[in-house]
Amino acid sequence: MRQMIIGNWKMHGLLESGTDLAREITSAIEPVLAARDVVLAPPFTLLGHLAPLLSRHAVRLGAQDCHAEPEGAYTGDISAVMLADLGVSHVILGHSERREHHHETNAGIRKKVQRAREHGLCPVVCIGEGAHQREDKRAEAWLTTQIVECLPPEFDGILAYEPIWAIGTGVAATPEDIESRLTFLHGALSRHLETDDKSHRVLYGGSVKPEDAASILAVSGVGGVLVGGASLSAKSFLGIAQAGLSLAP
Ligand code: 13P
Repeated sequence: MRQMIIGNWKMHGLLESGTDLAREITSAIEPVLAARDVVLAPPFTLLGHLAPLLSRHAVRLGAQDCHAEPEGAYTGDISAVMLADLGVSHVILGHSERREHHHETNAGIRKKVQRAREHGLCPVVCIGEGAHQREDKRAEAWLTTQIVECLPPEFDGILAYEPIWAIGTGVAATPEDIESRLTFLHGALSRHLETDDKSHRVLYGGSVKPEDAASILAVSGVGGVLVGGASLSAKSFLGIAQAGLSLAP
């Protein structure tokens, strides 16, 4: 399975700075695309603007959330059909920052997942345990609940394992920790969805940097990485996207 590198820009980027970043990334991304899929997820305000540039370079366009309804009286919200209309192909759902700041629940995320699929978007569903659950050895039960409650039985999208204690801290999980967690998650996924083990793409996210990207991407079962802070610099995002590949000079 091809690995996927997703840049989650979070709430960063204005017209000029976002365009410059996307231009710098796309100008050097072509060799990577022979081996890996690349998605950039800028804020909503830049989606329509960046769509033509990314599509010319075969970089996929991602959004960072969508509403569960296709339209209606939901001031300030954006629906999956609106995203599809702009050329968005992937949508990040259930990110821990939205769970924390917007009180998103597993049941609400599941509705968004179904709606995204209905409109042809590939959902990238984020799950992850916090530091307390990890210390109390409750992480596996927590992750299993997130899988069971967020993913409908017909789910064929992408799962992103983002331990909350690693996000934005500068300290990624170790390759050993990622491997054991991903082995667990692939098992939980295949039981819940009644599919073959490892048939789903599972990404790792949390302080991925160019220095440790090659060892993370080499972990068995890792379907790619979801990058936050390091996706805001073309040099570091490209360093991650190229990590471990032997590219022609
Ligand atoms: P950082 O890479 O900044 O830790 O963020 C990870 C993340 O939240 C990606 O969705």
